[in-house]
Formats: sequence, structure tokens, C-alpha cells
Amino acid sequence: MLTHAPFPLTFVAGHQSVLHDADGHAYIDMLGDYTAGLLGHGDARVLDAVATALRTNASVGGVHPAETQLAEAMCERFHLDKVRFTNSGSEANLMAITTAIQATARRKILVFHGGYHGGLLYFATGIAPWNAPYDFVVAPYNDSAATQRLIAEHGASLAAVVMEPMLGSGGCIAADATFAHDVYVAAHSVGAVFIADEVMTSRHGRSGMFNLLGVKPDISTFGKYIGGGFSFGAFGGRADLLDYYDTSPEAGRVTVVAHAGTFNNNVASMTAGCVVLGDVFTAEIAQAHTARGDDFRQSVAAVLAQSGLPVCVSGFGSMMSLHALAEVPHNAHDVAARNHDLQELLFLGLLERGVYTAARGMMNLSLTLTDDQLAEVLAALSETLAAVRGA
Ligand SMILES: Cc1ncc(COP(=O)(O)O)c(C=O)c1O
Repeated sequence: MLTHAPFPLTFVAGHQSVLHDADGHAYIDMLGDYTAGLLGHGDARVLDAVATALRTNASVGGVHPAETQLAEAMCERFHLDKVRFTNSGSEANLMAITTAIQATARRKILVFHGGYHGGLLYFATGIAPWNAPYDFVVAPYNDSAATQRLIAEHGASLAAVVMEPMLGSGGCIAADATFAHDVYVAAHSVGAVFIADEVMTSRHGRSGMFNLLGVKPDISTFGKYIGGGFSFGAFGGRADLLDYYDTSPEAGRVTVVAHAGTFNNNVASMTAGCVVLGDVFTAEIAQAHTARGDDFRQSVAAVLAQSGLPVCVSGFGSMMSLHALAEVPHNAHDVAARNHDLQELLFLGLLERGVYTAARGMMNLSLTLTDDQLAEVLAALSETLAAVRGA
């Protein structure tokens, strides 16, 4: 993913929304580290807090206050009863799935074509052969009828439905509100746990994207920006599900699931997370950033439309993707029909004009991007399209 023709870039520094490569070029960073870089580069509030914490409290081999503080902040922001920390979004999803399997005593997991939940939970083109060996059922995204049929068919053995409210890696394809609701109701109708993968999308609105879609998941998973640039993951939600991890005698559980991990509650990530959800990315700022992203995406769409080329933009809030497609895609099947040469020309044209996006077209707005920088990006896009058209 990080390698692209004719050669991949090596970045040596970043300041706010500007990246510098090893050859001395500067780029406006429109990728935002695939959503983990929401804060831009070098946020002093996070770095200072982490530096202070590491000097006093490096790795404690026990519980520490920043962990509790971050847990409380996450429960409040994302409406969770309880939360547990991991090192990555991948681990968070593996643990969420494990929780559902233990709680339901069932084995099947329904996922979506084009979904991505981690290195071992990869469904870009179906079930990747290297995936963790769960018993997966793959449904088409944004297709309520087909998904409801699959859920009914496998209902008795279905432990969980795992869903992104927007296919992130899969091309920034948002779920229709009715689709999200239909899947949620269908999952509950057969007693399956609804797992919301909000690793990328928890930045949207006050409490994440499923909240905006009117769906309250059983378990939600998190990662990326909440760690403020440090490795991070978390899963949380209904107390009765999270209580499978409660080993205290008072809980009196017969079935207990173990969840260990040396760096799960590491001081750097916990401290950074407290700053991120505390002062830096307040609920109000999150809402404003979502609106700003929607505005910018509309401006991008206008520039694309003017070009007359078969190009479009999809997304939600501050996450979006350019597609070499005439129509906005609704599922992974649509995305697969992109014109790959044109897609590459868009990426390279923007790069040549000092704008860094994902080779696959993804753009994620960071908080440090200025209006002037966004205007420069639109100009670079317009010039790129004109050059492509001219050629
Ligand atoms: C939706 C989604 N879930 C899970 C993950 C995995 O997170 P991590 O890379 O922290 O393991 C990603 C990473 O891109 C993701 O986009």
C-alpha cells in the first residue's frame, strides 16, 4: 500500500500539514496517515504531555491513572459502558470478535465485501487466504436484502456482524442510513452481536459515525487518531459483553476470557489519548471538522465535474476518496471498475503539484490544514485534471 510506481517516497519530517521527503520536496499532507494523523504533525500538546509522562512513569507493569482517565473519556464520548485497550485496531477487532464468539457460543462472523478490519481481517476481494481462521460469511455492502437473507440463513450459528459505517480502505463508501439500520435489526433478530468498526470513523460527529446513523452498536472498536500518533486500539460497549473479562471474585463469572498484552495500557498511548479526547479533539471540534470535510468534499466534486472526465469523489465528513469512475460507487464491486491508469495519473499529478494523497485516492483532512492549503489542493486538482485531459 505504501509502495507505488515509479518509486515510493521516504518522508523525513512533518510539520502540521506539510510533509518533507528525503529528496527535499514539500507536500501538503492530504492523507493524514490514513486517518491516524488527524492532529497533523508535531502537536506540542500531545508531545509535551507524553514526554513528561515518560520521564516519570515509563512502563509500569500495572494500572496507572492515564489508563482510567482515558477509559472514562472514551466511555463518555462514545456512549460505552466499558472499554478495554489494545495496541492496534486489528487487535481490537480480533478481541471484539472473540468476545462475541464466547458470549454467543456460536462461530460464524458476517463481514462485508470491501471491508477491512486489520491485517488478518482483510475482505477487499472476499476472504483473504491469510485471514485469521474464523468462519466468515461475506455480504455485499449497501445491499439490505442480500445481507438480511444471509443473516437469516446463518442466523442460528451467527456470533457477530462486523461492519464499518463507511468502507474506509474500501474507497470511503458510506453506508446508507437504511442499510446500517437494516443490518443492525437483522443481526439482533438472530441474537448476533453487532460489532461496529469505528477505527477510522469515530472522528465523525460527536460520538462516531454509527451514532450519526442512529445505530447503537453492542461493541465498537477504535484506533488510529485517538493515540495521537502512538499505537492504539480499543474495544468497548455493553457491560454484559465486556464483563466476560471481569476476573474479580465479585463478578462471579463462570466463563472468563483472558485479554493480555504487554503494551495494551502503555503510558505513551494512554497519555496521548487523554490529551486528544480532552483538549484537542473535543466533541464540538469533532462536529465542526465533520462539517468542514463535507464542505471540502463538495468543492472537490465541483472541480471534478468541471473537468468532464470520468472522475468522482465519495466519502463522509473529513474522509474521502477520489475515484476514476463516472458515478459515485456504492460498493466494492463498483470500486473494482475504476480506470487504473487514470487513477494513477490523478495520484501522480497531485504529487507532482505538491499534494500527497493515498495512491488509491484516499484523502483525510487533519485539523491543521488551513483554508489556503485546501484552496491550493483544489487548484492542484484542477491543474492535474486539465493536464490529463490535454494528454
Ligand atoms: C476500519 C479499520 N479497522 C481496523 C483497522 C486496523 O487498525 P490497525 O492498523 O491499527 O491494526 C484499520 C486500519 O486501517 C481500519 O481502517
